[in-house]
Amino acid sequence: MDTISKTASTSNNSSTNQSNGQTWDTEAYAINGRFVATLASDVVALLAAQAGEHILDLGCGDGALTKQLAATGAILTGVDNSPTMLAAARQRNLHVEQHNATALPYHQQFDAVFSNAALHWITGVSGHNSVLAGVHRSLRPGGRFVAEMGGHGNIAAIRTALQATLAPFHIDAEATSASFFPSSALYRRLLETTGFTVQSIELIPRPTPLPTGMEAWLNTFRNGVLNHLSAVDRASALANTIALLEPVLRDADGNWTADYVRLRFHATK
Ligand code: BEZ
Repeated sequence: MDTISKTASTSNNSSTNQSNGQTWDTEAYAINGRFVATLASDVVALLAAQAGEHILDLGCGDGALTKQLAATGAILTGVDNSPTMLAAARQRNLHVEQHNATALPYHQQFDAVFSNAALHWITGVSGHNSVLAGVHRSLRPGGRFVAEMGGHGNIAAIRTALQATLAPFHIDAEATSASFFPSSALYRRLLETTGFTVQSIELIPRPTPLPTGMEAWLNTFRNGVLNHLSAVDRASALANTIALLEPVLRDADGNWTADYVRLRFHATK
């Protein structure tokens, strides 16, 4: 979730990230982004949370998955940088704190750090070096870091369609969205340079059904790019992006599937 930059603006149910303009609206996310938590069963299984363990959920968002992890009897702390998402997480009676993921304040107090679908919002290698240093510092000796994020090739068709659609508007969609989708070789290097021992790391293609369709996905997960356009241009850019994607991501029955690729890893301190 909004794990890295300062929040530029906040309204009742949405907050905006300063570095990529991405806005998190808790109500829209609950409708269009719920699949993010429901498809996390493999990384949750890899974490194998135990009752009584202290676990940090980095980029906890609205806490849907944090709540699930807490049901194991583990003691969860959620961290995010979006005040509106944190408010939604507090409604679930979770203990959550607002921090920038690149400046975690913890020292050797967690048995595990967990993260799902959040790390790709952190920009560039230097951002990730800061995050990894903070995660390493947060863990007790022998503690584990188990995470899943977008990996190399993630949402390639969607990114290409956006890049082509927005070029005539003089918007570089890749640069503006500032997502980080590393290969397993690169992320292994970053983890090892920080001092982690990598137990496993793999890139996993995961075609992802979009129950509410492509337009809802683009408005929820790529609004940081689309918000640079006027209302009229935005409507036309959405229509063009969807037309480009239809032949490859929409089936004969009208169902949309996004071309997700996950990077999943388990590293120990
Ligand atoms: C992801 O979970 O991989 C993702 C979601 C939205 C935008 C970019 C990446």
